[in-house]
Amino acid sequence: MGEIVAVVSQKGGVGKTTTSVNLGASLAILDQKILLIDMDPQGSVAASFQLNETQIKSGMYQIFRDNIPLTDAIIDIGLEDLHIVPSNVFEEEEEIEFFRHGMDYSLLKKVLTPFKEVYDFVVIDCPPSLGSLTINAITAADSILIPVQCEYYSLKALGKFIRTVKKLSQKYNPDLDFKGFLITMFDKRIKRSQEISEELRYSFKDTVLETVIPRNSKISEAPSKGKPVALFDIASAGAVGYLHLAEEILISGSNNR
Ligand SMILES: Nc1ncnc2c1ncn2[C@@H]1O[C@H](COP(=O)(O)OP(=O)(O)OP(=O)(O)O)[C@@H](O)[C@H]1O
Ligand SMILES: [Mg+2]
Repeated sequence: MGEIVAVVSQKGGVGKTTTSVNLGASLAILDQKILLIDMDPQGSVAASFQLNETQIKSGMYQIFRDNIPLTDAIIDIGLEDLHIVPSNVFEEEEEIEFFRHGMDYSLLKKVLTPFKEVYDFVVIDCPPSLGSLTINAITAADSILIPVQCEYYSLKALGKFIRTVKKLSQKYNPDLDFKGFLITMFDKRIKRSQEISEELRYSFKDTVLETVIPRNSKISEAPSKGKPVALFDIASAGAVGYLHLAEEILISGSNNR
């Protein structure tokens, strides 16, 4: 039985999409069958693979609006073990409609549950808000992963965010497992980066994942080549970081089973 992992944070630009794409790809490299779902109307997952409007016929919006089968929205990106469903929203009104359809918080769970038989992991990239689409992801997920950017960060805001997520999960998904905080964009040359990482580990103890994703130019370049970093430069610190994360997720999963 596969596991649904939602990558969630209210804060923009912390590495949710980067983590979803690269965790998905790294798990696929480790022989796991992966479905990557974009719940963000910004459509960043498709952009990470350089997919254009003509290649995307339908996506999560059409699944929510027209009830089309998820299999009709899967895009073949030429990788056997990594399938993606984009978030196909091109007009502003459609984005509003997407969030409105998402007011049925159990919709994504209904859509994804059968695919836990097909995939080892379903990874969901969320928009930077706690709106209806993120609540759908929290309701559908078995576990959540919260990226924390190791540069601009507020301990107070993070504490508040976690309390809100806990309240939501108590209401909509009491069995939700907290996979952990993932430190992203860590730069060992910057003192503040070190301080934030230490503060996080002190405050949140072992809920902070052991893996630390470094700030690495290959990670930010890879989407412009339409590739996850591991397929762009396998030896880069970024690729090694995300492969390490995939291993950590696999080990934590087998320990919980
Ligand atoms: N480890 C890293 N090293 C270098 N650049 C990174 C790293 N992680 C993310 N980035 C870059 O930071 C920017 C923000 O990352 P990303 O899009 O993954 O964040 P996000 O949380 O999904 O943003 P949004 O909230 O807008 O959806 C992107 O340009 C990405 O390429
Ligand atoms: Mg994003």
